[in-house]
Amino acid sequence: MAGLGKRQNTGETSFIDNVTGQKIVKLGGLEFPPRKVWMKTFGCQMNYHDSERILSHLKDLNFSHTEEKESADLILFNTCAIRDLANTKFYSQLGEIKHNKKKNEKLVVGVGGCVAQTEGKALVKKYKHLDFAFGTDVIDSINDLVFRSYAGDGKFSVNAWDRSTDFSIETKITHGSPQAFVNIIKGCNKYCSYCIVPYTRGKERSRKCKEVVEDVRKLVKYQGIQEITLLGQNVNSYGKENNESLAMLITELDKIEGLELIRYTTSHPYDVSDELIAVHGTAKKLSNHLHLPVQSGSKAVLERMLREYTPEHFLNLCNKLRKANPNIILSTDIIVGFPNETQEEFEATLKLLDEAQFDFIYSYVYSARKGTKAAKMPDSLTDDIRGERLRYLQSYQLKIQEKLRAPLKGKTLRVLVDGQSNQKGIKKWKGRTNGNRIVHFEPVDADKNYLWHWVDLEITSATALSCQGKLLKDHGKKIESHDFQCSLG
Ligand code: SAH
Ligand code: SF4
Ligand code: F3S
Repeated sequence: MAGLGKRQNTGETSFIDNVTGQKIVKLGGLEFPPRKVWMKTFGCQMNYHDSERILSHLKDLNFSHTEEKESADLILFNTCAIRDLANTKFYSQLGEIKHNKKKNEKLVVGVGGCVAQTEGKALVKKYKHLDFAFGTDVIDSINDLVFRSYAGDGKFSVNAWDRSTDFSIETKITHGSPQAFVNIIKGCNKYCSYCIVPYTRGKERSRKCKEVVEDVRKLVKYQGIQEITLLGQNVNSYGKENNESLAMLITELDKIEGLELIRYTTSHPYDVSDELIAVHGTAKKLSNHLHLPVQSGSKAVLERMLREYTPEHFLNLCNKLRKANPNIILSTDIIVGFPNETQEEFEATLKLLDEAQFDFIYSYVYSARKGTKAAKMPDSLTDDIRGERLRYLQSYQLKIQEKLRAPLKGKTLRVLVDGQSNQKGIKKWKGRTNGNRIVHFEPVDADKNYLWHWVDLEITSATALSCQGKLLKDHGKKIESHDFQCSLG
């Protein structure tokens, strides 16, 4: 089985059917007429990125993407195992597909992603209407798996790890937007005690710096990409095995003409190097926003989580980053209710929120994952206590955010418009600033399509979660003049 990124010579050929005039793809003696694939993705950006890659491969087998489940020939789920909630949603949706299969016997159903990696075999056994399951390291072989299914291979599950020592891929995008995710490292070696990811995504492996730079250069030149997000579960570990680093990579990417904005996610605080901190002060295209998950403000909880740093170390990092780039905007992830978290330990997290002054946070109730160390720890907390702590923490943080964002009023910020919004019946457009803040604005010309335009907006009001802006200038799809001030927020 070919591993991630290793599927080069696919062997498909195609011809036009004389009678129907349709394109038919031939592979290994099977003919693939035009078919439709419907796909549901759960989880993180990595999974969304994988889904895009899967859809791009499937195009070679004559599949086009459909939003209508009823019209699909192939239904795929890309699953997430991080918390119970994602799991539950997936299982109920998978159950419903039974009815689609009753209506259309030829329907093929596959499940990929993090749940499939660890539980694929059991899933295929349990759900009669599920044809195949595939893990996270075989997504570049999706066409082989779909072929197997159409060739009449009964139910099967593939969750092999790609054992090759290098990680080499080319980014595949199917959308027409100027934003792209670029996977630079896969897997995670951290084994935080609560987290399932190392079991679902395998060992860390990085792409070579030269390959990523060439990849991005091509995306910018041929696909009109202007904003990239470098992706990995722990991008700060990037390049270790090749004597390369994230700081080196960003410095190289910063030189690419036509590229406007570089983001990266997700970072582990332990691995933020001084070299990387310095790059936050020097790389012109690097976003002012940095997502740096802290998880807890309690030293003892961080120890039980096996996070390898203390609250002091984390706050010191924040200070160093703010020194390197005084305009940096920090956000974080918090888990409340880790096994046996005491009230004092919880309050230590609130204290850290006060000190760190995050621009926004993602916060979650701890969810025990089978096979992780934390799942075996003694735990006397109830769901009620966990829920209560989460609500308290969220409203506590909203007050911090409100204060932090109020001074945005009156500033002029540049936004890349990524969609429309409807607020109280008023049609608006919205986008994100360099610092990842959402701004809504009313168009001057109601019929104008602002999608993927760069616009300068004067912020007229700022709440804890979003801003309203007044359109000052529409640059169109390319920025001609770079006004530094517009990126500071
Ligand atoms: N690689 C990233 C995040 C991966 S998962 C990192 O190390 O920061 C995204 C977030 O989900 C984590 O930051 C954590 O806050 C949360 N999370 C992970 N496992 C969880 C669990 N078992 N219960 C609740 N939240 C969890
Ligand atoms: Fe999970 Fe920790 Fe790895 Fe993040 S660094 S993916 S939280 S094990
Ligand atoms: Fe979920 Fe897997 Fe991402 S468990 S968060 S989809 S790496």
